[in-house]
Amino acid sequence: MAERSPGVAVVNEERADACVQGQLCQDIERVLISAEEIQGRVRELGSQINERYAGKDLLLIAVLKGSIVFIADLMRAISIPHEVDFLATSSYGASSTSSGVVRILKDLNEPIEGRHALVVEDIIDSGQTLAYLTRLFSARNPASLEVVTLLDKPTRREVDIDVLWTGFSVPNEFVIGYGLDFNQKYRNLPYIGVLKPEVYEPGTE
Ligand code: IMP
Ligand code: MG
Repeated sequence: MAERSPGVAVVNEERADACVQGQLCQDIERVLISAEEIQGRVRELGSQINERYAGKDLLLIAVLKGSIVFIADLMRAISIPHEVDFLATSSYGASSTSSGVVRILKDLNEPIEGRHALVVEDIIDSGQTLAYLTRLFSARNPASLEVVTLLDKPTRREVDIDVLWTGFSVPNEFVIGYGLDFNQKYRNLPYIGVLKPEVYEPGTE
């Protein structure tokens, strides 16, 4: 019988060392957080969520698109019953993001009143997006409202955010992979990495 094939994550990670033309890994300067480290932390977060929300009506709310990979793994690390819902936002651009103006492209499908809402974020940078969303959700009277983020860039914070769980703190560098994008690409990489400068500024190689 054929051996079980390794998970996609492992295959992609191996390719980071043996990268061939045409693969995304060519653009990676270095891996900041490996797929294994992420999976280990996601399991820890899952058990803390199990403990805190046992017997409660838990609703995970993911902010599209950056959180899709994180929530997909996190929900499978949670063994208590729960539901998931999605929200899509778009900021009005660099100048207005600092004022915390966020446009809702797709609202939640379900009401959150009386439920235990846990917002699942990919990364908190200035904190403006989350500050806006927590105001919006609080007004809908959930039983509780908390935030779990995979990554945090604490040095970039412009507004105070109450985050219950953080997967990893990262330095002030633009990171990609595990759901996070640069120009909508690199979301499928199983690790968190930093791009080579020439990817941002073609011609500087
Ligand atoms: P904030 O409103 O400044 O906290 O921005 C949060 C959003 O910006 C995140 O949810 C990401 O979608 C995006 N973002 C911030 N930093 C990065 C990064 O380093 N890589 C990819 N996306 C980022
Ligand atoms: Mg996001």
